[in-house]
Amino acid sequence: MSTARLEYNGQSWDFPVVEGTENELGVDISELRAKSGLITLDEGYGNTGSCKSAITYIDGDKGILRYRGYPIEQIAEQSSFVESAWLVIYGELPNEKQRERFSALLTKHAMIHESMRNHFQGFPNNAPPMAILSAMINAIGCFSPEVLGSDTEANFEENAARLLSQVRSIAAATYKMSMGQPMMYPRPDFKYCENFLHMMFSVPNGRITPDPDAARALNQFLTLHADHEQNCSTSTVRMVASSGANMYASVSAGVSALWGPLHGGANVAVVNMLEEIRSSGMDPHVYMEKIKDKNSKLKLMGFGHRVYRNFDPRSRILQKAAEVILSKLKIQDPLLEIARRLEEVALRDSYFVDRKLYPNVDFYSGIILRAIGIPLDMFTVMFAIGRMPGWIANYKEIHDAERLKINRPRQIYTGAAIRDFVPRDARVQ
Ligand code: ACO
Repeated sequence: MSTARLEYNGQSWDFPVVEGTENELGVDISELRAKSGLITLDEGYGNTGSCKSAITYIDGDKGILRYRGYPIEQIAEQSSFVESAWLVIYGELPNEKQRERFSALLTKHAMIHESMRNHFQGFPNNAPPMAILSAMINAIGCFSPEVLGSDTEANFEENAARLLSQVRSIAAATYKMSMGQPMMYPRPDFKYCENFLHMMFSVPNGRITPDPDAARALNQFLTLHADHEQNCSTSTVRMVASSGANMYASVSAGVSALWGPLHGGANVAVVNMLEEIRSSGMDPHVYMEKIKDKNSKLKLMGFGHRVYRNFDPRSRILQKAAEVILSKLKIQDPLLEIARRLEEVALRDSYFVDRKLYPNVDFYSGIILRAIGIPLDMFTVMFAIGRMPGWIANYKEIHDAERLKINRPRQIYTGAAIRDFVPRDARVQ
């Protein structure tokens, strides 16, 4: 085993170098503090491997993404969201029996508990859908008898299927409540994405037949979001799970982390940005100049990534998918053209080239969601539905470990040094 040596203050220590399947290397510093009294400081965790994981592999320099070893391009082309969810969660492609069993579980759990209607009614009509989703995920946990039971394999399977199935029912119900329409029950004869479109867009006196092209585009969107190793929300799920919290509590925390505009909320920010350019009639070049101006604090939303210093492979697939769905549904969306032009300008501009900023997953995904009729405030919820398999799989890795070890980083304290407490009447007013 190779080692890395650290020298400090005339002393030196050797630490093992750990090698992953794809030859990526990490220095195991778990004994650093015990040996040297030092800790590492890595604000934002850009250089910290927080765990070993067998779920997803990313090579950000080469623009590679694989779920359980399978290239994302092959999965997007040949698989479905439900199948890739099984793959991400259980590690292998399902055989026929496993597929049928999983589908049956998803159907069994598609309906949310009737009492949940009261929970929805407690929110104002304009409540942010991500707030509702996060709260509702914890709430459905309370209706699941297994949640307080031991984390057996059977309980895990039931809870995983319930979460995966009901996240979609909750999302659709949130939309229905915001529209003042009755919640629609899921249909057992519809597949995952068709059922979602039905629950979103059917009304009791006007059932829709889900458009197969829309269902296909949605399937691809969700599949491409299924996992992305230790991003902000997934790390949050692992952090919460490491305390022994149940699957619903862990995943609900992940939803909150995803909400932020630097993470899942970027898909909304991209469309807002494209809309602003469209409505103002601004030339994309002019917008780019504004972004490059340090005083503007503007960012080209949907560009840049902590890990990818190359094209995010998902953005390439989603760009094509956006073109396909717009043409199939015969929709002219001016935002697609603006996005293409911004990308063209950025890829030739030294500001973006030098910083290795490329389109990420959010740059084109909003155009697909708009085309299939998803309202803007639901975009990040759609991301959350897609990311559910990854969150569940990461929760599983934490709970399958030989010993549950709480995640607890350290810090370098920079506050006041020790001082005596000042009584209220002696304080400077
Ligand atoms: N537009 C303009 N400049 C950018 C952008 C951008 N989108 N992204 C990074 N930069 C610049 C930064 O200003 C910085 O410039 P400087 O060196 O002159 O100070 C440099 O590139 C490095 O950027 P960091 O912020 O240090 O990169 P980091 O890895 O911390 O951030 C992030 C990554 C948050 C994704 C960032 O690129 C960003 O804010 N992008 C826009 C938001 C977005 O699309 N988020 C979705 C990410 S994908 C996902 O979470 C699903």
